Amino acid sequence: MTASSTPGTSGPVMCIVGARPNFMKMAPILRAIAAHAPALRTMLVHTGQHYDRDMSDRLFTDLGLPRPDINLDVGSGSHAVQTADVMRRFEPALDTHRPSCVIVVGDVNSTLACTLVAVKKNVPVVHVEAGLRSYDRKMPEEINRVLTDQVADRLYITERSAGDNLQREGVDPGRICFVGNVMIDSLLANREQAQRPAQTLRAHGLDPAVVATGRFGVVTLHRPSNVDDPEVLGRLLGVLAEVAARLPLVFVQHPRTRGNIERFGLADRIDPARVVLLPPQGYLEMLGLMAEATLVLTDSGGLQEETTALGVPCLTMRANTERPITVDEGTNTMVGDDRDAILQCVDEILAGQGKRGRTPEFWDGRAAERIAADLAHWLAGPRVHD
Ligand code: UD1
Repeated sequence: MTASSTPGTSGPVMCIVGARPNFMKMAPILRAIAAHAPALRTMLVHTGQHYDRDMSDRLFTDLGLPRPDINLDVGSGSHAVQTADVMRRFEPALDTHRPSCVIVVGDVNSTLACTLVAVKKNVPVVHVEAGLRSYDRKMPEEINRVLTDQVADRLYITERSAGDNLQREGVDPGRICFVGNVMIDSLLANREQAQRPAQTLRAHGLDPAVVATGRFGVVTLHRPSNVDDPEVLGRLLGVLAEVAARLPLVFVQHPRTRGNIERFGLADRIDPARVVLLPPQGYLEMLGLMAEATLVLTDSGGLQEETTALGVPCLTMRANTERPITVDEGTNTMVGDDRDAILQCVDEILAGQGKRGRTPEFWDGRAAERIAADLAHWLAGPRVHD
């Protein structure tokens, strides 16, 4: 926990992280509050939704996150079990520490679970990365986003379209604040420290020749809609094999994906001569891989944004995106599972005709600073729950 108490805001600002994509969002927020709103005490709560060294501890180290003040150690489970476990374990922490507000980021199960507990106790909730919508209710994250935004008190948005989405859902514009993208704060703060891809491969005992030419693709896949069905996953691996025939690939495997490839007996669809497999990487390793890649093939939300900030073409293997600015202004192209579209985009990129894009408004490394300034002001003023 960090220093002093504040007149008017009794308890600490409780900052919640749970799963991998939360860590790079929360790190700059904690730093910005310490630097720009030092009167606010912060407290870091890790729900333990992600717990592996690769999925959690390493990112804490890379991002300079302090050790959590509280770890709820919930681990994996079905959506219901995981959400319920976070709620049951978070409630006593809230009762004990009586925070002035709870900050949640992104759209993972921990985000919604902590939001529900806090609002029902009249503790104000601040949602960072609010208003993004894929309009695909089959995506668990979409449910988490819609529900969190309905009940959260202060909504920080990364792109203006998110504000339009929120207003369409009846959210009072007074609750919405456009600050930019904290994930890009992390990227810009760490860009210089990124690890070179050859070093990353060597660290895993792999031949760095595949990245030595500077022409390689990076692949990540982990969405349940892409990796939980053997037929769909098998087909996607087939398309990746065709891409790999044109361009060597570094496939960074999420535990869910690696497990499913093994369980479904699909490992032989990956040609080790053209596709290098890596376990989940640290933040600096991943940043280095993306920054030097010729293209990125992914179904991640965060990578769509990071590639736009890096100016690297991104082919998103999903039917929709909740981050349309990456397509409209950035380097992102939605390709779904369409083999022909994917191969055509790959060929264009290899011919030097990939999207270059431009940096979206307020993706400038100062989003967390804006949050800290607004938060201090907002906490000092009258609020919905007062
Ligand atoms: C979660 C988020 C997703 C985010 C992703 C990033 C939800 C609904 N989904 O999905 O939005 O993009 O994190 O990774 O919150 N596992 C491990 N070690 C870990 C964590 C998980 O091996 O540290 C394995 C377990 O087998 C687990 C599976 O991964 O069952 C899925 O983990 P889970 O947290 O349920 O969801 P993700 O797929 O990681």
